[in-house]
Amino acid sequence: MTREKQAPGSCDSTNKGVAEPLLLLRVHEYGIFLLSCTFYNSCKELIRDGMSDRTGNRTIERKQSHVDICLHGEVAFSGKTTGFEKLEFEHNALPEIAFSEVDLSTTFLGRKINAPLMISSMTGGYSEAATLNQRLAEAAERFGIPLGVGSMRQALENSSYRESFAIVRKYAPSVQIFANIGAPEVAKGLTDNEIAIMLDLLEADGLIVHLNAAQELFQPEGNTDFSHFLDRLAIITAKISVPVIAKEVGCGISAAAALKLLEAGVKVIDVAGAGGISWQKVEEIRYTREFGQEKRFSLPALDELLNWGVPTAQCLFDISELKNKYPDFSEIEIIASGGIHSGIDIAKSLALGAQLAASARYILKALHEGALEETIETWLNDLRAVMFLTGSAKTEELRCKRLIIKP
Ligand SMILES: Cc1cc2nc3c(=O)[nH]c(=O)nc-3n(C[C@H](O)[C@H](O)[C@H](O)COP(=O)(O)O)c2cc1C
Repeated sequence: MTREKQAPGSCDSTNKGVAEPLLLLRVHEYGIFLLSCTFYNSCKELIRDGMSDRTGNRTIERKQSHVDICLHGEVAFSGKTTGFEKLEFEHNALPEIAFSEVDLSTTFLGRKINAPLMISSMTGGYSEAATLNQRLAEAAERFGIPLGVGSMRQALENSSYRESFAIVRKYAPSVQIFANIGAPEVAKGLTDNEIAIMLDLLEADGLIVHLNAAQELFQPEGNTDFSHFLDRLAIITAKISVPVIAKEVGCGISAAAALKLLEAGVKVIDVAGAGGISWQKVEEIRYTREFGQEKRFSLPALDELLNWGVPTAQCLFDISELKNKYPDFSEIEIIASGGIHSGIDIAKSLALGAQLAASARYILKALHEGALEETIETWLNDLRAVMFLTGSAKTEELRCKRLIIKP
């Protein structure tokens, strides 16, 4: 039952191991489908009032409704989970450390960060988004963790709202901040000037390119032309001086896709796996609001498409294996995201090979409820507890601890 196996990642085999059942996570090889955050009251008003922005700009309407639907809509996956809940750490009856010794710090892209957590890309590009980004930036700065902004397409299309992005650097002067743009914009081709605008606005430490084919497919005004993406991505990675991070938005990144991204020069893969928020559901809600119950897909297909994607834990397991298999990619870093909502999820992510974990929707919910800092502090305390109970004084040690499938 507990036959040890060399696990993905860089830990040596004497220490690191994954119990045999984790092999069952390998859906593609074994055919076994096992894995199936008050923004204060003023912010609530800003979200509601902003629904009818004076400019009538479609991008602005979309971004505002995304926040609203993510906070209040039925957008969770149904019948599919992240897979984290099926795993547990092996208890260590002999921790041989003091709880007070537990050190959450780690590194990301060569820089020390205070904890293995990142605030995922969410918003920007309309005036009210500045308030959201300011609060997120303040939290990132307080905890000493990285932060991503939402898609900067709007900053390229309309200079009026660039401040809603730039504000993050003002309130988070010392942490890593990442610019963000969608795959369809990359596929169309970004000019050097456009890339410079995004990076300069934030004094960015990197560029996140989000892969959101399923979201665009369901989006009423979606751009579904992803042709030539990899070629154009490779041109960008070769040209810019900061690392490029490829991330999904909730459907996950498979090992095969990750390999192509790494070959195109990407340095970090943010898996944004399935099991948390379904962006297909977010866009389906927007589509239905716009066009009514018009049927685009058959009912059985719709259910499967709305719940489409590779679960987060599965992505981590598979992409970590790539690092072992391809020495050229042994230095790449993996971000675990998609449904992260506790320090236990963060801990399991590290043991599955992630450098850090990232969260969007639960962070947004916590902000909306006025509990952002408290939520992050609680998650970090969860993580400290797991580290203590596995005898891991440092995050590097936790990465080498055994996970088993729950009975
Ligand atoms: C309101 C909201 C807006 C988002 N906008 C973006 C975006 O502009 N760019 C992006 O890469 N991801 C965006 N995301 C996706 C998240 O970064 C994340 O990948 C996804 O929601 C899955 O993580 P989660 O389960 O922690 O929410 C957004 C998420 C939320 C909740």
